[in-house]
Amino acid sequence: MTDTPAPAAALADFDAYAQAVETVAAAARAYYGGADATIDDDVYDALLRGIEDYEREHPDRVLADSPVGRVAAGALPAGDVTHSVPMLSIANVFDPDGLDAWGASLERRLGRTVEGYTAEPKMDGLAVAALYRDGRLERLVTRGDGIAGEDVSHAINGSIEGLPERLTEPVSIEVRGEVLLSIEQFEAANEIRVAHGASVFANPRSGAAGTLRAKDRPYVIPMTFFAYVGMPLSGDESAMSVFLRSAAHSEVMATVATLGVNTTGNTPAGLRVCPTLVEVQEAVDTIAAMRAELPFGIDGVVIKADAAADQTDAGTGSRAPRWAIAYKFAAVHRITRLVGVDWAVGRTGVIAPRAILDPIEIDGSVVGFATLHNPADIERRGLRIGDRVSVYKAGDIIPRVEAPLVHVRTGDETPIEFPAACPQCGGDIDRSEQRWRCVKGRACGLHAGILYAVGRDQLDIEGIGGRLVTQLVASGAVADVADLFTLTREQLLALERMGDTSVDNILGRIEDARSRPLSRVLCALGIRGTGRSMSRRIARHFGTMDAIRAADVVEMARVEGIGDGKAPVLVAELADLADVVDKLVAAGVNMTEPGVTLGAAPGPAPTEGETPPAGLPLAGRAVVVTGAMTGVLAALSRNEMNELIEGAGGRASSSVSARTSLVVAGDKAGSKRAKAESLNIEIITPEEFAAIVRPVLNAGASD
Ligand code: IVH
Repeated sequence: MTDTPAPAAALADFDAYAQAVETVAAAARAYYGGADATIDDDVYDALLRGIEDYEREHPDRVLADSPVGRVAAGALPAGDVTHSVPMLSIANVFDPDGLDAWGASLERRLGRTVEGYTAEPKMDGLAVAALYRDGRLERLVTRGDGIAGEDVSHAINGSIEGLPERLTEPVSIEVRGEVLLSIEQFEAANEIRVAHGASVFANPRSGAAGTLRAKDRPYVIPMTFFAYVGMPLSGDESAMSVFLRSAAHSEVMATVATLGVNTTGNTPAGLRVCPTLVEVQEAVDTIAAMRAELPFGIDGVVIKADAAADQTDAGTGSRAPRWAIAYKFAAVHRITRLVGVDWAVGRTGVIAPRAILDPIEIDGSVVGFATLHNPADIERRGLRIGDRVSVYKAGDIIPRVEAPLVHVRTGDETPIEFPAACPQCGGDIDRSEQRWRCVKGRACGLHAGILYAVGRDQLDIEGIGGRLVTQLVASGAVADVADLFTLTREQLLALERMGDTSVDNILGRIEDARSRPLSRVLCALGIRGTGRSMSRRIARHFGTMDAIRAADVVEMARVEGIGDGKAPVLVAELADLADVVDKLVAAGVNMTEPGVTLGAAPGPAPTEGETPPAGLPLAGRAVVVTGAMTGVLAALSRNEMNELIEGAGGRASSSVSARTSLVVAGDKAGSKRAKAESLNIEIITPEEFAAIVRPVLNAGASD
């Protein structure tokens, strides 16, 4: 994907110029202050370029607060910690011609050929400097105005993945990089925010900004760090500092990774070393193609001259180094019109508003709908039908409305009407929480709930599809998940298009489903805020349904990834589902998790740094599966592979990093395999993996 650069906004006169300066400054203040976007990235870039053009033609009329030539458009709240070396911005290019022009000007300045380049993802987060002294993370500082930043060392509390409090070696180093919310962390963060009655984050970037600066929240929001610079700690003259001054960028990043810090190289996009700009352009195209699948947001690719000598000799301009350039992708924010709102009832009976938009292309797909979360959120944002709204979509994130553009209202906008009764059954609405629910709860969202429960990753009852579920629900045969297990031959035969053979098949599969592991039964219950991997963690932590039901909020919060935010919701949901669980038990459905020692002190699935259960074949290993599985594993879904890994004591992960210890590479394994090779991580075939997990496989087969 090659993106068209935003054209410069032509600013006709001084008034238009002054207006543009003000708009850009306000947008930059909001952006860097962590608030919602006021204009989208394309409009921002176009205005900035228009300002640049105007100033070039009218150098005598440049306003003092012009954003041109300033780091981050001069908008950051300057903090009180001065950076050892300013944290600069990078200049942008938008297409192959821009890249070539940059390369040519760099070589002109150097008077020689650039020794080589690196290409790495441009993370869409918040820049911070992490100061390590003798291996210990001493201080964390935001970029601020580039000269001085805010001390956010309060965030050194283990909540930033990839930014360890201790390095693997007692060295001193300043690491710079981006703190962000991965897509999964962003979705989880919004769940936690809703549970606490807080407003949802409009996008991962503003969520990370708010979280980094927040001090006294009653809940923790995990974030992720990616390093892209390693430099000497001010005043340190150790061998490490000497190395950091003389090594190539790619070597520095490899060292930073071995110290235990997450780097842009430890991502599926990777840090690619490219001999010439031809390979750089290829790397840009490859990373652009991966964008939608990456587990975090990126807004471009950063290209750097790799060799230290090239960087030193190229030097730094007034606001950006000459040896680096950002190849920007199209914005993931777009402005469109909110044409309506509809309300859908989900499987737990939650009535969720959804924005109907004038369809618009964002990040490679056409967006016609966007999530609006809940009525309180609509009110907080003051949205109206007909509003021009900024919409955000990146990767797997469900598109969401960020904010209305209040300054372009025409006066014809109308209020959003909230439903007076449940849009599905016409019944009453429970408005006691931020998320409205039909008072019938799960019963109202029954069709969606049952369909989810019989799905492959839950009870896996093949043969029960949408049409059958409709009939089962309509006939009253199934009023909750447990009723599936007491369906009789007569009940099934009474349904349309059901003969003896299909009924036998379905009854057989229902019988099989009785012995699914607890994690899947739990998942099938459709507890709010839990999906497949959370259900596995809970099942492994407690081992039995009895232990889960006996857990109070404090105990529930100990499960990895639940924390204080989600625990009360989970405990309440389980209490709500008590009757259904009783019915499942009575129907002989399995309520234990295989591989978890009963009576042992409950412990979570092994996470980094924790002691894994000894004796299991993958104890303590972080395993990534990639490519198509073959042999006995051919039919397994990724979820089932992850179950196997965790059943064997390992930790399943979706991306390869320095912390990955084993990669199972099947057919057509691509970038993850390559990444594992470059990091020297052990790679095995599906067959070899099957041999390792055989005991677990056999246990599963005999269920
Ligand atoms: S290098 C002196 N590498 O993008 C150059 N920056 O728009 C230092 N960013 O200020 C920056 N990903 O906050 C670099 N892989 C990456 C990056 C990256 C994101 C941010 C950084 C920078 C801004 C410029």
